[in-house]
Amino acid sequence: MTQQNGASPYGTLPPASAPATRKPVSLPRLQEMHARGEKITMLTAYDATFAAVADAAGVECILIGDSLGMVCQGLSSTVGVTLETMRYHVESVTRGVRRVQGTAWIIGDMPYGTFHESKEQAFRNAAVLMQAGAHMVKIEGGGWTAETVRFLVERGIPVCAHLGLTPQTVHALGGYRVQGRGDEAAATLKRHAVELQDAGASLLVLEMVPAALSAEITQALPRCATIGIGAGVDCAGQVLVLHDMLGVNLGKNPKFVHNFMAEAGSVRGAMEAYVKAVKDGRFPVNAQHAW
Ligand code: KIV
Repeated sequence: MTQQNGASPYGTLPPASAPATRKPVSLPRLQEMHARGEKITMLTAYDATFAAVADAAGVECILIGDSLGMVCQGLSSTVGVTLETMRYHVESVTRGVRRVQGTAWIIGDMPYGTFHESKEQAFRNAAVLMQAGAHMVKIEGGGWTAETVRFLVERGIPVCAHLGLTPQTVHALGGYRVQGRGDEAAATLKRHAVELQDAGASLLVLEMVPAALSAEITQALPRCATIGIGAGVDCAGQVLVLHDMLGVNLGKNPKFVHNFMAEAGSVRGAMEAYVKAVKDGRFPVNAQHAW
């Protein structure tokens, strides 16, 4: 796709033959960044081109989130996303990153119903995403999931956990609302986070959690980097849904999202601005949250 002047609206990508200038993002590198206090950047991407642009923009982690059900497939929630759909998108992203000799760490989301029955079921389905190109899988939920996380990690599958607002259980939660409010809910969330770290999760997405609680959980997890989305600035890293940060969300953008495209001249420019704002601690702004 080119604009009339021949320039790509996505921003310039390195040619496929370009020598790699950055070191691949690996688990030890993410752990080292976490230990040093360097913020980790993550964005969702679902196809080869956007993944390649995100990689070129310096995003360390690309999440093929099951949010693709809502932003790519037009579903009303993520509950209907299948493993086969996730496999297709993980393969597409992986090809895009490889094509530009990219360095990003690729995370495949385990969709609803693919890890709930047993740890063996979780391993079989995680293996499908790993064989499609993922370096890590993401699993929503706390409590009972710790045993599953341990089972996968022991078998060589790095795991990103996900607590707070877990969209796959939106119906049980009663909507897309802030989690961990009140002493009891906060204590449960924190306990689940520590259990997931102890089970071997290396990353933990905290979604729509009060900023003060996220900061406390982040401090309590020396071996697991928290990645916030609507969870305040004190997480070890941040993630946004690509379409939200580009301002092309079909619905209403959540309050905590910033439209990085509004001030950038290209998709790559928007992603670079996001990376810089996260690294500098300028995004997110805690005051932007009502919680
Ligand atoms: O599916 C997804 O995109 C996610 C992010 C919002 C963290 O889980």
